[in-house]
Amino acid sequence: MSGKRDYIAVFDSGLGGISVLRHLLRLMPGERYLYFGDSANAPYGSRSTEEVRDLTLAAAERLLGEKPLKALVLACNTATAAAVRELREKYPELIVIGIEPALKVAADHYPGGRIGVMATEVTLREEKFDTLLHRFDENCTICKIPMPGLVQLVEAGKLDSPEMDVLLRQLLAPHIGKLDAVVLGCTHYPLAAKAISRVLGDGVVLLDGGDGTARETRRRLRNADLLEEGRGELILENSKNDPELIRRAYDLLNER
Ligand code: DGL
Repeated sequence: MSGKRDYIAVFDSGLGGISVLRHLLRLMPGERYLYFGDSANAPYGSRSTEEVRDLTLAAAERLLGEKPLKALVLACNTATAAAVRELREKYPELIVIGIEPALKVAADHYPGGRIGVMATEVTLREEKFDTLLHRFDENCTICKIPMPGLVQLVEAGKLDSPEMDVLLRQLLAPHIGKLDAVVLGCTHYPLAAKAISRVLGDGVVLLDGGDGTARETRRRLRNADLLEEGRGELILENSKNDPELIRRAYDLLNER
């Protein structure tokens, strides 16, 4: 049985989940969080689905072995697409929250609009995404935009760098001037939102699922009478033994 003082684990392939943790902390500052980024194995987005599933299940096991958990937030679209079903089956007692590209928000706000979905290769090729796409593609034009290389630059802290500009210009060139909104369907991408906006232009609205995921987490905890409003706590961990990475994670959190 979970208790209110148990932890909320937040998992991503690296630093990306910090963009979700920001929303969780804003909505529920009194909770205890255990964040784990698997930067040693990032990027997940170009791996096979089986590899991502195994890495995600191993991360969940690690987190459950470390602290008593009341919820696990998969702050990673790629890990959600590959493993959320298995995790729910394996840990029926645990509240498991996944994240998926915010297509519903985009379709609601831009009926008839042209919407781009930037995400990793795994997310875009999984059946889960096709199901999501077909729910909304009658009302708007949706185009998939894979972004190989972007996660690596975010992991390397090159958020506002010449390399970032070159990569974004190259990958986004076919879409410039052709979109009303872009869904950032990978949790690393909101960390590079400034550079993305610079390339797409300020007129293109960027949407992500961080806020929705934090709200869903709060809703599920409240329904289970597990919401805690005590003294918050935050533990940040990473599979790469690199203090610089942890420092950068704190910096990114404080930028919110
Ligand atoms: N941050 C992850 C996501 O939301 C994926 C990053 C990666 O490719 O490792 O999809």
